[in-house]
Amino acid sequence: MPVRLPLLFLSAEDVRRALPMSAAIAAMRLAFRQLADGHVSLPPRQHIESPGNNGRALVMTCHSTAHQLFSLKFITLFGDNRSKGLPLIQSIVMLADGATGEPLVVMDGAVLTSIRTGAASGLATDLLARPDAAEVAVFGAGVQARTQLEAICTVRPIRRGYVYDPDLAAAERMASEMSTLLNRPIECVASPAQALEHADVVCTATTSPVPVFDDAGLKHGTHINAIGSYRPQVSEIPPATVCRSRIVVDHRDSALEEAGDLLGPLRQGLLAGSQFWAELGDVLLGRSPGRENPGDITIFKSVGVAIQDLCAAACALENARHLQLGVRLPNGVGALPPVSRGD
Ligand SMILES: NC(=O)c1ccc[n+]([C@@H]2O[C@H](COP(=O)([O-])OP(=O)(O)OC[C@H]3O[C@@H](n4cnc5c(N)ncnc54)[C@H](O)[C@@H]3O)[C@@H](O)[C@H]2O)c1
Repeated sequence: MPVRLPLLFLSAEDVRRALPMSAAIAAMRLAFRQLADGHVSLPPRQHIESPGNNGRALVMTCHSTAHQLFSLKFITLFGDNRSKGLPLIQSIVMLADGATGEPLVVMDGAVLTSIRTGAASGLATDLLARPDAAEVAVFGAGVQARTQLEAICTVRPIRRGYVYDPDLAAAERMASEMSTLLNRPIECVASPAQALEHADVVCTATTSPVPVFDDAGLKHGTHINAIGSYRPQVSEIPPATVCRSRIVVDHRDSALEEAGDLLGPLRQGLLAGSQFWAELGDVLLGRSPGRENPGDITIFKSVGVAIQDLCAAACALENARHLQLGVRLPNGVGALPPVSRGD
């Protein structure tokens, strides 16, 4: 009998140390390649409302043949948490062996989510932004905004960044923290138009239910990562921008369920059908064109897919084992004694 190791637990700090942005971007390459090649079993995610609490849970599950792993993510999003000093997003991720079903690791899913979401935008930017992109604008100064900015700076020689958030104090905090972390000027700006003025790459990572900038302010040739909206009635990107852009989605079926940025213009008959949207994995594998001209506007619309969690968590687990991070939980799930009651 093989010896079973007790279940490993990785805290938020462990995940952060085990998943540097460059490794996370490499993990997203694997994730979107597997998705495009059909090596993934990906049930639609479940949305469970918490009535009266402005909150919901999402349950995201996946199996990867290439990794021989299952993943499960339980993630909650509570819109009023900020006023209670709590983050919008809290989450736990689990991996289990795809050959035996043995649970292998439980880890903080909030940090994992922010890193993998940034990393997917990093990959999309690498594939879709102009090679000479040098300035980036980020809308939102929350948790996701930070990893968006870090990821863009990982794949392009960014000289300067701009942060816009109606919560000016939050934007100032983020600009100061990220200037130090990324060792380049990150400025807080007072209006969406100022953020866009020089931006070659734009990330929208907000909780806004309505578009966060004016289409007229975008430069030709901009690449946009739109990651905030994941509900059909919510949209961060102006319809006029969506309609004149080359659209790349993380996963077409999920986008058709959840991507408000695209579904609004689609339902109004302003946008040609979803058959014209490319999937990121197909662009990665050269099956769909990405940017065709330097002046094109490209949009990567991400709602988040479970294979991202699986590949990011697998990478974090491997690195955590090398670095000897985490704690082993006594009496891991697999170590329970056999039931003897005949039930
Ligand atoms: N696509 C994905 O895979 C994915 C993954 C995680 C989170 N998300 C989504 O990303 C969004 C942000 O999540 P978070 O964890 O960073 O939340 P957060 O609460 O930490 O930050 C959200 C920020 O958006 C700002 N904001 C609101 N309206 C704005 C506007 N009009 N312009 C600029 N900023 C504005 C808020 O002031 C806040 O600072 C959420 O909607 C979340 O659901 C998407």
